[in-house]
Amino acid sequence: MAEARRTSKKASATAPSLPLSSEKASAKPSAKPRVLLAICGSIAAYKGADLCSKLVQAGYDVTVCMTDAAQKLVGPLTFAALTGHPVATDPYTSEHDVRVEHIHLADLAQVMVIAPATANFLGKAANGIADDVVLSTLLAVTCPVIVAPAMNVRMWNHPAVARNLATVRGFGYEIVEPGDGFLACGDVGRGRMAEPSQIVARVAAALGR
Ligand SMILES: Cc1cc2nc3c(=O)[nH]c(=O)nc-3n(C[C@H](O)[C@H](O)[C@H](O)COP(=O)(O)O)c2cc1C
Repeated sequence: MAEARRTSKKASATAPSLPLSSEKASAKPSAKPRVLLAICGSIAAYKGADLCSKLVQAGYDVTVCMTDAAQKLVGPLTFAALTGHPVATDPYTSEHDVRVEHIHLADLAQVMVIAPATANFLGKAANGIADDVVLSTLLAVTCPVIVAPAMNVRMWNHPAVARNLATVRGFGYEIVEPGDGFLACGDVGRGRMAEPSQIVARVAAALGR
């Protein structure tokens, strides 16, 4: 608890909360540790909403960015309502000022969590591709990065996915391995996104809480 308070104080002393450039300048600075949560286009995006809620309940200041595919599965409004912050969806949209959104997000994040992370995300991240707000922010962050993959068991077992996972692990990203069980597609096997409570624990550990 004392450690948590120390972390919070440090956070408030070094930087304001994680408003997007589209938030009002009058937004109050937050003393809470800042988590940037990226949602990719997996059926587990709904578990991303649960994770988001659990992070907020655990006392983090959470801001969300989403890929285009993610937005087809869960609406940004869900995450905006859960976090109280606008959701970053388009790196070219900046409503109130001229800050470069992905650099601004990266500057302020104390930990970045990609959950769920798709096979597509892993392939692009492994190759330094930056063609959306999630990937371009990922290249710009200097904080710890936690990746929780979710996909069909046959996708998970593909050698390309294993290779990409090994590559991003080599970048120093922490991987929260998927679990075994029933998959949304009806298959049974490895590929279920780790439980949100497990990911919250990894966030706490990454922030020394
Ligand atoms: C209903 C649905 C569920 C999907 N679930 C997954 C999934 O769990 N994991 C995955 O890697 N891809 C999944 N896909 C495929 C991705 O959405 C697709 O590869 C997309 O290009 C990912 O884009 P993103 O990585 O930019 O979010 C799913 C597609 C659909 C239509």
